[in-house]
Amino acid sequence: MPDLTPDAAHLAAGLEALSTFVQSAQPGWTRQVFSEPYLASREWTFRRMVEAGLSDVHQDAAGNIVGRLPGQHPELKPLMTGSHTDTVWGGGRFDGMVGVVGAIEAARLIRESGRPLARDLIVVDFLGEEANEFGLSCLGSRAITGELTPGHLDRLGEAAGATLGATMAGFGLDPDQALRLAQPAGSLHAYIELHIEQGPLLEAAGKEIGVVTAIAGIERLLAAFQGRGDHAGTMPMADRHDALLAAAEAVLAVEHEACCAPVHAVSTTGRIEALPGAFNVVPDSARIWAEVRSIDPAWLGGVKGRLAQRIAGLAAARGVETALEWLNDQPPVATTPAVRETIAQAAEAVGASWEAVPSGAGHDAAHLPRLGPIGMIFVPSQGGRSHVPEEFTTTEDTARGVQVLTQTLIALDAQPAIPA
Ligand code: GLV
Ligand code: MN
Ligand code: MN
Repeated sequence: MPDLTPDAAHLAAGLEALSTFVQSAQPGWTRQVFSEPYLASREWTFRRMVEAGLSDVHQDAAGNIVGRLPGQHPELKPLMTGSHTDTVWGGGRFDGMVGVVGAIEAARLIRESGRPLARDLIVVDFLGEEANEFGLSCLGSRAITGELTPGHLDRLGEAAGATLGATMAGFGLDPDQALRLAQPAGSLHAYIELHIEQGPLLEAAGKEIGVVTAIAGIERLLAAFQGRGDHAGTMPMADRHDALLAAAEAVLAVEHEACCAPVHAVSTTGRIEALPGAFNVVPDSARIWAEVRSIDPAWLGGVKGRLAQRIAGLAAARGVETALEWLNDQPPVATTPAVRETIAQAAEAVGASWEAVPSGAGHDAAHLPRLGPIGMIFVPSQGGRSHVPEEFTTTEDTARGVQVLTQTLIALDAQPAIPA
């Protein structure tokens, strides 16, 4: 039997190396898409793929770092695995990175086992998975699935003061080519992503591996409120058109939407802004950035209509006008049952306990179903914490995840076709 035990020290050193590429003026481990440290970290990923013996390592037009482990029958549909290496502002060292470092390690193990796969294995570090100033997550995975549009490239980023397309070009990418990167529908045998759970379910259940059942859909909203500025000392309360108070009621409406849902849902307002931003002026304008998530497509499908009506009603009662823009709509995605089954069998084969869990976090995997069957493997997150500097997964859990990933890839490779 070839040794397919991941090198835990090598994995830990890889995650440690990636964690050094940070925007040092920011808290935690911040490495946002298009930042200087992100550029440096991608060079690291590139080198790591080359060192693992992958062929044809390159950056595609959309900024995905891609390597290939050739199989014995390149005419067969390939397997794909990967994740992302950008972080949220003030984020951690594991979200995305475990899936990239782990995918490269799985490919290395298979290559060094002397038992090549039948199919090519494509390893990817996808460009910009996290939410960004353009209001669009999963840039690289959208590009390869044909979901990146000219409208997306025209979006203006607040901080950059430039469009997404111009920002990509400034990062050395080719946005026009990125629009043409779409792979043919059904061209992958399967896509598998290893990721930290980012929530508390596995730890609470005392399980080592999560077999992901579905990835939550996300509706993201930018709501703008236009009221009337007035003197804060003289204008009577009943005569005001306070934009911030309308926004505050909208924040509670967003919370109410998930709290009162008949299905499991979560909602968050992550940012609020009011102008002119003085003690003594009634705010004339305000904006909120909010999102709602659920794995229930029927319920999530009604969120836009319900929230639009409720927010407009609350604002109108204060004589405040609203304009709603829906930025990132991503429907919930179920993973492929036969892939789930294969992951569960791989977990059992390596003696790992497992549990079926939904993903409340978004992932590149959610964009891949157009190309083929998908599956995700979760490893536990300490305390369920993520998107914060405290995010932590042990090396032992990471190595176990890589072991399950490796066995899953080998098992999927042997399946002639994976039922939808
Ligand atoms: C990505 O990590 C997301 O769930 O927002
Ligand atoms: Mn994340
Ligand atoms: Mn992630």
